[in-house]
Formats: sequence, structure tokens, C-alpha cells
Amino acid sequence: MAHYLVTGGCGFIGSHLADRLLADGHRVTILDDLSTGRLENKPAAARLVVGDVADAAAVREAADAVDGIFHLAAVASVQRSKEAWSDTHRTNMMGTVTVFEAARTAGAGAPVPVVYASSAAVYGDNPVTPLGEDAETRPLSAYGADKLGCELHGRVAWSIHGVPTVGFRFFNVYGPRQDPRSPYSGVISIFAQRIARGRDLDIHGDGEQVRDFVYVGDVVEFLAAAMERRPRGAGIFNLCTGRPTSIAMLASVLEELAGYRVGRIHHPARPGDIRVSIGDPARLRAAFGMGCRTGLLDGLAATLDRVPA
Ligand SMILES: NC(=O)c1ccc[n+]([C@@H]2O[C@H](COP(=O)([O-])OP(=O)(O)OC[C@H]3O[C@@H](n4cnc5c(N)ncnc54)[C@H](O)[C@@H]3O)[C@@H](O)[C@H]2O)c1
Repeated sequence: MAHYLVTGGCGFIGSHLADRLLADGHRVTILDDLSTGRLENKPAAARLVVGDVADAAAVREAADAVDGIFHLAAVASVQRSKEAWSDTHRTNMMGTVTVFEAARTAGAGAPVPVVYASSAAVYGDNPVTPLGEDAETRPLSAYGADKLGCELHGRVAWSIHGVPTVGFRFFNVYGPRQDPRSPYSGVISIFAQRIARGRDLDIHGDGEQVRDFVYVGDVVEFLAAAMERRPRGAGIFNLCTGRPTSIAMLASVLEELAGYRVGRIHHPARPGDIRVSIGDPARLRAAFGMGCRTGLLDGLAATLDRVPA
């Protein structure tokens, strides 16, 4: 069994991953500054180092003698990256370089692999549908630019320093524990909580914006599989289903699952809101021999079931 560091392990995706690694019998150390992550997300069996992912000493300490690093810590918000450009850059880009650097010597002086979260935000307003990994990257936000920068440094980590890296471009991830209280949270967690409370839903524009929603359980499967394969090189994969769902459709399916309807509050379209964002999962399927398994209905039912009070 292995010992893994999970940065951002008290957050939404990182905590599901930590649960999964522990269930597989591994040891887990979490590095998290608890800025958006929550202590109650931390699995009891995981060791927690409270610290900043851009602080080289803290990362080195947390990564000491691990067999691999899952790097999920980030300010996971396009909006926040507009409001606090250099601060989010420090975490999102410098934090990643700091993790890659620590990985050079983390395994008793030898390099260990890093599996990390990139984002569909690297594609920005590229209108191609579906988006394959070779599609032009043209990020519209500091968040997307930093995620693209992480991928470039992922290549450097491998080619210059021998640190294997696997970056996953997550599309819209959803599932239990996504925090609906954050103004930056994903639409599903917000809709699920509002429907559970019988409240109306805010719809921006005509609601026909289309997204590729991925269930967190599937994300965790691929992260764990990427590490188990003992990666070499610097891989980049879309983590997506390839299936389109509009915001309006999402609202109706959630209502159907809840068994009642709520109203809609219509707002003007948000400036810069991308109309269609769908990934092509072909490279992911070819490399891992599997696709995302959770259908939207099952994923939404699991999410709705566990909406926090
Ligand atoms: N949720 C999505 O749909 C989505 C989509 C694309 C990419 N991602 C990426 O996936 C990863 C996880 O996102 P999430 O949705 O679980 O977000 P989250 O906010 O729930 O988790 C991020 C975690 O990182 C921690 N963190 C933030 N800044 C830190 C710092 N400076 N030092 C240490 N820890 C810090 C937070 O406390 C939190 O626990 C992020 O890298 C995010 O950019 C998420």
C-alpha cells in the first residue's frame, strides 16, 4: 500500500479522493489551508497539515517520503481570479510549481508522480464542439490562464526534472459536498439546495447554455487510476462525459427527482458566459479503457439526497 499527499483534500473533490484512497488501504496526508475546504470533510484516518500550497517548506514537509501527489488545491473560481488576480495566481500557478518542485525529491530523494487538476477553462471561448485536447487553448480568465500555465510546467517537470505528471481538464464537476454557500459554487449544488428548500431558481439568459457535467465519483476513479498506472511523461486528458446538458434541462430533471416544481427568476445573460462547453472524452477512454460511468439521473439523485441542511 502507498502513502499519498492530497493537496486540497478538505475541499469538494479532494475529500472524495481522500476517502477513496483510504478505502483502498493507502495512507493519506492532506495539505490544505482550509480557505474553502472544511474540517468536517477530512476523513478521520487522514493526517492533516494546515498550510499554504505555495509555501515550499510546508509542501516539502507534507510531501516527505510519499509515493505520489494528487494536487487539487486551488482557488477554484473564475470570478475570484478576476477580483484577486495576483493572489489567485500565487495559489493556482505558484502553488502548482511548488508541488512539482517538491515532487522532485519527495520519494526519499527520488521523483514521485503528480496527478493534478487542470480545467476546461483552458479552452476559454473556443467554439469547437466537442473540444478535444488538441483544440486551441484560449483562456478568458486568470484562472484559465493559470491552469494552462500549470500544464506547461507539468511538461517541464517531466522533461527537465523527471517528475511524471498527469493533468486532467475537469469539465463541470458536481456531487455531494460541493458547497452551495459559496457564491462561486457550481450550478448543480446551488440548484439542488434551492429545490430542496422549495426556493425559486435563478436563470441567467435563456437557460440554453450547455455544459458537460461530470459526477465526482467518476473524477475520483480517473485520478486514482492515473496514479495506479505509475505514469511516465506529461499527460493531459479531458475529464468529461461528452454529453450536453442545458441549464434549463438540469433544473427540470432536479425538479422531477424532487417530485415538485419551483419557480424561475430570470436575469440577463452574464457577460462572457460561454454558450456551449462540451469535451471529447475519446483520449480519456482510449488511455484508461473506460469512460465516465455515472449517468446524470443517478448523479443528480445522489447529490439531491445529500444536500446539507
Ligand atoms: N469543481 C469543478 O467543477 C472544477 C472544474 C475544473 C477544475 N477544478 C479544479 O479541481 C480542484 C478542486 O476543486 P474543488 O471543486 O474541489 O474546489 P474546493 O474549493 O472545494 O477545493 C479546493 C481546496 O483547496 C484548498 N486551498 C485553496 N487554496 C489553498 C492554498 N493556498 N493552500 C492550500 N490549500 C488551498 C481549499 O481550502 C479547498 O479545500 C481545483 O484545482 C479546481 O481548480 C474543479
